Amino acid sequence: MKKPPKFDFNRALARGHVCYDAGVGQWWESQAADGAHRSAYRAIAEYIRDKMRAAKIKSPLIVDYACGGGFVLLQLAKLLPEARLVGLDGSKKLLALAQSRLEAQGVSCAALPADEAFATQGPRVRLIQTLLPNFKLPKGKADAVAFVFPNIAPGPKDQPIYDRNGYLNRVDVAVAKMLARFREMDPEDEVTKDDPDTLFDGYMTERVLARNIYGMLKPRGQWIKVDYANALRSELSQLSQQRCLFCECALEAAIKETRSEQLFAMRDNVFRRSKVIMDVYHQTKDESDKSGGYFITLLEGL
Ligand SMILES: C[S@@+](CC[C@H](N)C(=O)[O-])C[C@H]1O[C@@H](n2cnc3c(N)ncnc32)[C@H](O)[C@@H]1O
Repeated sequence: MKKPPKFDFNRALARGHVCYDAGVGQWWESQAADGAHRSAYRAIAEYIRDKMRAAKIKSPLIVDYACGGGFVLLQLAKLLPEARLVGLDGSKKLLALAQSRLEAQGVSCAALPADEAFATQGPRVRLIQTLLPNFKLPKGKADAVAFVFPNIAPGPKDQPIYDRNGYLNRVDVAVAKMLARFREMDPEDEVTKDDPDTLFDGYMTERVLARNIYGMLKPRGQWIKVDYANALRSELSQLSQQRCLFCECALEAAIKETRSEQLFAMRDNVFRRSKVIMDVYHQTKDESDKSGGYFITLLEGL
């Protein structure tokens, strides 16, 4: 079993996306290349292929949001030869690895500016180096957006981007504050020991990313989100389920009569046991994070 790296993840991630061009990126590349991740990437790509086929979308445009070293793009290129694929990521090094990985398997691939990357003609896979979220990317073009093992690191100067794109939304702020302050009836259910301010910041940050993804999708487009998990969402406490849905802009229910803006509806959730959960253990060093796996959630734009 691989040992966790020695560096402090919290400090490294606080530097923003640049940490993926340094130690965090090296760690990630070695994790993503192992057997557990490879099987997960294959299963995720199969899931996306099945959803595209079920929706009878002939040559879908699929965006991989924070695509890293291109493992999901490679599997999608193999399974969906008719699809146009766009990979977005902030790391120059991981994108260069993605390009060589795809080309080594005979998949045409190029780093392109955003307007060209979304065009009908072009290579099978188009890569865009960009800070995320990015609200200047072409809108309403994607049939599906994949967001796999998300770990977006907001940099010290990125807050104004979040503030301009929903972080300060008055009603959402009120709901986020309530969801951050509520406590589980059963303390064993408490998935996080973070204080309410940290939770609030996490929820509002995630909602901005969800808004960014929503903007890129066609009407009724599909968002395939893959998170580390211990169980199906339906097995989580009601509070945990509401928190997840709120972060995804998919919470339908009102919280104390206050309804947050809903952009997505959750359509499906599957859980798979997998050693990919060791990514979490490496970051937390918490023994309880050694078991679990990941779940795939399908969200449909409203
Ligand atoms: C945990 S990795 C997941 C990569 C890929 N989805 C996968 O499953 O292999 C997180 C990715 O997010 C990217 N990332 C993190 N923060 C970012 C930011 N603020 N802007 C752009 N990319 C970012 C990193 O470069 C990295 O590729």
